[in-house]
Amino acid sequence: MHDTTAIATPQLKPRAGKNANPRYAELYRRYPTIDYLRRRARQRLPHFAFEYSDGGSGKDDAGIKRNWAALDAVELVPRYGVMPSLPPCDVELFGRRYAAPIGISPMGGPAIVWPGADINLARAAQRARVPYTLGVVGCATIEKIAEVAPDVFWFQLYRAPRNDHAIGFDLVRRAQAAGAHALVLTLDVPVRTTRAREVVVGLGGAFHPDFKMMLQMAMAPAWSMALRKNGIPRFSNLRAYVGENASINDMVEFARREMGGAFTWEEVARYRDLWKGTLIVKGILHPQDAEKAVALGADGLFVSNHGGRQIEALPAPIDVLPAIVSQVGKRATVMMDSGIRSGADVVRAYALGAAAAFAGRAFLWGLGALGEEGPGHVIDLLIEETQAALGQLGAHTPDEARSVVIRHKGALQF
Ligand SMILES: Cc1cc2nc3c(=O)[nH]c(=O)nc-3n(C[C@H](O)[C@H](O)[C@H](O)COP(=O)(O)O)c2cc1C
Repeated sequence: MHDTTAIATPQLKPRAGKNANPRYAELYRRYPTIDYLRRRARQRLPHFAFEYSDGGSGKDDAGIKRNWAALDAVELVPRYGVMPSLPPCDVELFGRRYAAPIGISPMGGPAIVWPGADINLARAAQRARVPYTLGVVGCATIEKIAEVAPDVFWFQLYRAPRNDHAIGFDLVRRAQAAGAHALVLTLDVPVRTTRAREVVVGLGGAFHPDFKMMLQMAMAPAWSMALRKNGIPRFSNLRAYVGENASINDMVEFARREMGGAFTWEEVARYRDLWKGTLIVKGILHPQDAEKAVALGADGLFVSNHGGRQIEALPAPIDVLPAIVSQVGKRATVMMDSGIRSGADVVRAYALGAAAAFAGRAFLWGLGALGEEGPGHVIDLLIEETQAALGQLGAHTPDEARSVVIRHKGALQF
C-alpha cells in the first residue's frame, strides 16, 4: 500500500512565518492575483488617480502591452518526479539579504494614486524585507523613508544639472547621511514624451483641479479620507530647494524646469565618485550601454523601459535581458522591471538571469484597491506565486530555475 500522507502536496496558503499577515487569507479570497487589485483600483480611485497609475505613452499603451505580452511569451519547462517543496526564495543583493527576488521600483507622485503612498510602500517593504526605492520626485523625504524603512531603503535620482549639479549632489549627500543602501540613477528619460491618459485627466502639467476632478474625488470616499489624513501630495524632497512654502504647482514647475534629460556617462562617473555605496543605473536596454555603466563602476543595472511610459517602440526589457546578462552578468547585478504582474513573471526574469524583478504599477494598484494594506498584499502575492512557480518547475532554490529549458522566441540578438 502506498502511504499517501507522505506525499501530501505542499500547502500554499495562508503563508506562515513571522511576516505573515493575519488578514492574508481574507485578502487572498477577494484579491487572489494582482489583476484583481487592478480591477478594484479602477472602481475605487478617482478616475484621474487610476489613469496616473495605469497609463503609458504612445498609441493605446502599446509599450505596456508589449511588456506584458513579452513576459507571457516566455515558457519554462518543468521537471517532475522530485519531491515538491515550497522553496525559500530569499536572495542576496549587494551584500544584503532580502526575502525574495522582488522589489518596488521608484515612482514619482505615487501619492496622487493614494495619499500617503510612499510611507505605505516603505513600511510594507520594511516589514517584508524587500527593497523599496524612493523616487526623488516621490512624496516623502529621504529622511522620513530612512526612518520607516532603514533596512530596505534605496534612493532614485533624476538629473538636476543647474549650478553644476548642486541639487543632485546635495540629494546624494542626504541619501548617504540617511543610510540609503543604493543610489539609482535613471537614464531612460532623455526627453519628455506624451502620456495621453495623464494629459486628458488634467495631470499633464500644473495641477488645477477642475469640477470634474472634484467630482471624482467626492465619489471616492476612501481616497478622500486618505487625502485628509496625509495632506496634499508634494514632492517633499524638493522643498529644501524650492522653498518651505512652495505650493504643489511651484514644485511641479520646478521639477519640470530643473529635472530632466538623461545623465551622460561623464555625469554617471561623477556620481560614482561622490556616492560611496552601491550604484545602480536604471533604464538600460542595450548590452553596450550596460558595458559602459559597469566600466564606470556601476554595481548594478535595471534593465527597464520605464514601464512603457516613454515611447512605445522600445523593446520589452525581458527580451533584452539575456543579452545584457551575458554581457555584464558576471561583473554586475542585473535586475529588471517593466510589466511584472505575477510570481511567474518574477521567475521568468530570474530564470533568464535577473537577480531580481521589480514592479511599479502592481504596487499602485494594491494601494488603489486596499489603501495602506495594499502594498503588503502585493508583496505577499508575489512571494507566494514565486514559491509556487519554483515548486511547479521542480526548483528547490531560485537558482535551480536557471537550469530549466526556456522557450524565449522574443529574445533580441545584438
Ligand atoms: C506613476 C509612475 C511614476 C514613475 N516615476 C518614476 C520616477 O520618478 N523615476 C523612475 O526612475 N522611474 C519611474 N517610473 C518607472 C518605474 O520605476 C518602473 O520602471 C516601471 O513602473 C516598471 O514597470 P511596471 O509599472 O509595469 O512594473 C514610474 C512609473 C510609474 C507607473
